[in-house]
Amino acid sequence: MAASNAQSLLLLPGDGIGPEVTSEARRIAEAVAPDIKMEEAPFGGISYDKFGEPLTAEVLARAKKADAVLMGAVGGPQWDKAPRAKRPEAALLAMRKELDVYANIRPAYCFAALAPYSALKQHLVDGLDIVIVRELTSGVYFGQPKEITDLSNGERRAVDTQSYTTSEIRRVARVAFELARGRKRPGVRFAGVLSCEKSNVMETGVLWREEVAKLHGEDYEDVQLDHMLADAAAMHLVKAPKDINVILADNLFGDILSDEAAMLTGSIGMLPSASLGDPGGPGLYEPVHGSAPDIAGKGLANPCAAILSLEMVMRWSLKRPEAADRIWKAVDQALAAGARTADLGGKLTTREMSEQILKRL
Ligand code: IPM
Ligand code: MG
Repeated sequence: MAASNAQSLLLLPGDGIGPEVTSEARRIAEAVAPDIKMEEAPFGGISYDKFGEPLTAEVLARAKKADAVLMGAVGGPQWDKAPRAKRPEAALLAMRKELDVYANIRPAYCFAALAPYSALKQHLVDGLDIVIVRELTSGVYFGQPKEITDLSNGERRAVDTQSYTTSEIRRVARVAFELARGRKRPGVRFAGVLSCEKSNVMETGVLWREEVAKLHGEDYEDVQLDHMLADAAAMHLVKAPKDINVILADNLFGDILSDEAAMLTGSIGMLPSASLGDPGGPGLYEPVHGSAPDIAGKGLANPCAAILSLEMVMRWSLKRPEAADRIWKAVDQALAAGARTADLGGKLTTREMSEQILKRL
């Protein structure tokens, strides 16, 4: 928690389009919650260039002390040759691990005005409202050993380790069940939690399915639980996405399924995310889109994902549902009025789009 009484939000603008979209989110924050204390810090490639580290100890300490951390985006081709541990992506993984934000919440919500922009036919996505709960601090991203070794026969061998413990599965499953309990969807086929793994070929999948079912029996029998193999779930997401309410998946499957779900909503430039740990610790918020180096600095980026990530900051970490509702409605109304950035075929710049939202707050 913050040392003073004021709630604190640490902004990490990062690389590429990150600074552009973060500064628009900041303007919205100043409008809806002028009392919160906002600070900025370098993170990602920009930090590597300045300090030789993509995540410095000082910035990590400040993140741990904040009530919430809002990131822009990190990475870019200029850091592809940096040593693996110094790449911007490594800083992102370290930040997630250090803050222990094990539950990554990624809503895939199709705003009414954006249904025609979906990769799918409009009737399949009209009213689409899915939340993906992705495990974020374990699994194949972090399991050891993780290495490339030279073999005596001149070949090389690469190993990643997929590993999960019971408690790692249970704590993220609990977040999914709680979420589903608060968003009952009568008439939807998988009305509660749809848990995805590959228990047909992976031991981690077997344990995942068993532990999720066990927790369900203990504490969540009022919530519908279905299990699906992750590949079948990928298929179902494009066949009948409105059958689904809350998806629960491990780190890698959740990464893939959330990109797939993003495409259903019109533009990845719309999607926010929240990463949460146990209550009391800071939440980490980030747009799902990347740093988009090809359009960086041109004012073309869609600020909505960052602004909706701020909406999640207000709702989940700062417990300001009214401020969150104001942001949500303003985005919805701006889109309904036809406000569009280039990713949605529009002409508005990043700043003009956020102006459209600001004036509707
Ligand atoms: C995401 C991204 C990251 C991930 C990358 C940039 C490390 O794809 O947040 O989905 O794989 O987790
Ligand atoms: Mg991803």
